Amino acid sequence: MTPDEPPPAGNQAELGLAGSPGDPHAQARTARAQPLLLHSMSVFRELFETIFRHREIATVVEVGVESGQVSTLYADLGATVHCVEPAPGDDLRAAVAEDPRLNLVEGLSPEVLGELPVADLYVLDGDHNYAVVRAELAWIMKNAPGAVVVLNDLLWPCGRRDFYYEPSPLPPEDRHPVTEDGPTVWHDDVTPAGFVGAGAFTLAAHAGGPRNGVLTAVEDALAEAAGWRLEIVPAVFGFGLLARPAAPGAEEIFEALRPLTSSRLLATMENNRIALYTRVLQLEYEAKAHRHDADRLAEEINTQHREIARLRSELDRSRTEAATTRQQLERLDAPAGRPVRDPELGEAVSELGRALSARIRRAPGRPR
Ligand SMILES: C[S@@+](CC[C@H](N)C(=O)[O-])C[C@H]1O[C@@H](n2cnc3c(N)ncnc32)[C@H](O)[C@@H]1O
Repeated sequence: MTPDEPPPAGNQAELGLAGSPGDPHAQARTARAQPLLLHSMSVFRELFETIFRHREIATVVEVGVESGQVSTLYADLGATVHCVEPAPGDDLRAAVAEDPRLNLVEGLSPEVLGELPVADLYVLDGDHNYAVVRAELAWIMKNAPGAVVVLNDLLWPCGRRDFYYEPSPLPPEDRHPVTEDGPTVWHDDVTPAGFVGAGAFTLAAHAGGPRNGVLTAVEDALAEAAGWRLEIVPAVFGFGLLARPAAPGAEEIFEALRPLTSSRLLATMENNRIALYTRVLQLEYEAKAHRHDADRLAEEINTQHREIARLRSELDRSRTEAATTRQQLERLDAPAGRPVRDPELGEAVSELGRALSARIRRAPGRPR
């Protein structure tokens, strides 16, 4: 905004979206600064702010931490954070090393939950499958009945289909038959052009049915432990909020989040987001396949060019040999004073020339 411009109308300045007539690209700049696929729970900052506003939260257990960018958010809101991550990278180790509010727990959930202090808030975003989430919830519901639980990935693609981080520590009976293909919203089958794990994870080859998917795990846990309530914010793969209404602050949190949990607009935009993203995945896959085809054709054309050059030089050599032979015959015949007219030899040389020309013409892929 230039100094003589009026401030943006309404709430645009607060959201930082609309820029001004003098800065018309503000929204586009913000948009392109985001990753193409939003997946981190850091986008839920304002939801966590709401939770912390209505509930005293001293301890957070964060399951599935990745880089640690969300751990700092919980700490900034006032909590001590136990970051459960089986495969911490350098960025997470560095974040924990420089922040005494963060404790790295290098291990697997749910196994490590019992070794940690009982928390006010559990954030479950680790291994996205029925067996793990069901066991995590069973432990929390039994040992931390007053806690608030937040889960990510309750909607597509993990809601009704298990995902398994690989190599998976789960026993075979806890895993569905897996595929390395991925789902897409454009049809119900998995496809190599879909949302694939590329070695990091596999997923259940079939969606739905019993004991499959994160939302199914939550529903089964709710059915078993009466008195818990679930609401979902339909954005960025589905933000789930789980608590017993009797727990401190729970009613207020559910109420404060109601405009988001009941938003058809958000649900529509999430569906549009996953449709667009899986269309991008498909186009990328097809572009890569076409690139391979083009490389293969270029290689084939090179091979054919080399073969044509070889045949041409063979033809030239044969023509030279034929000319030499003809000259020798002429010399042999010269003393007798008669010109060489050997019809058989002439015909043989012509035949050889025709055969080689035909071979060159027949060479597949020969440029015209
Ligand atoms: C989706 S990422 C987490 C992203 C992070 N919560 C965020 O919002 O930025 C999932 C993480 O869970 C970890 N993970 C996988 N299985 C786990 C388990 N059984 N317990 C804890 N973490 C697990 C993976 O290594 C991975 O870093």
